Amino acid sequence: MPPLQAAASRSAVANPDSVTPHRRYRGFLNAAGVRLLGFGLAFWSSTRATNNVVKGFNMTTRPTEPIRAEHRGLIPDVEAVDRAAIELAHWNQEAASDRLFHIIDFLEGRLLPHAAAEESVLYPAIDEAMGAANATATMRVDHDEIASRVQHLRETITKALDVWPDAERTAAVVRQLSALAAIILLHFRKEEEVLLPILDSKLTVDEAEALFEAMDSDHAHHS
Ligand SMILES: [Fe+2]
Ligand SMILES: [Fe+2]
Repeated sequence: MPPLQAAASRSAVANPDSVTPHRRYRGFLNAAGVRLLGFGLAFWSSTRATNNVVKGFNMTTRPTEPIRAEHRGLIPDVEAVDRAAIELAHWNQEAASDRLFHIIDFLEGRLLPHAAAEESVLYPAIDEAMGAANATATMRVDHDEIASRVQHLRETITKALDVWPDAERTAAVVRQLSALAAIILLHFRKEEEVLLPILDSKLTVDEAEALFEAMDSDHAHHS
């Protein structure tokens, strides 16, 4: 290296302020580039993190998903109860007997055992999570009301079928079908929008799974 250049190089090492404007400019570009690269990486990783959170949210099932799925399985039949209130005007006695007892079978064979399993397993877990022994008392009252209306509906249908299509008795069936469907759908909404989020915030997926397994065996016991 020529002596002058060697001296400049030594002085640059010894004194960084002595770097040439050209070198300073390159240094600035390098630093800016590193900063930009750093910023880009930070942005990329934050986007990636956000995507993972979003993907994770989509992929993560809520702990209470099994009971929400059970409700989704029951709701079409509850809606059929409501529809029957309108459609039965077109049914002859045989069709009315088939359709209305099919509804009773659903209510007694699937809906009420679902409610009983909730009272044995789900509601105590919610009471505990809320730290209040009576937290689900109003929901148990809903179940009692639903159960007594199902029993009353069975009796009203039986009487109506004896004299089908008697206007007064048919009207009683219509009123009861319609009211029962409304009460059940409202009850499901209360469970899904108010009670289940409490468990979602308190239970892990594994704890919830154990709870729903207990519900399933209770369900089998009641159906
Ligand atoms: Fe319920
Ligand atoms: Fe339910």
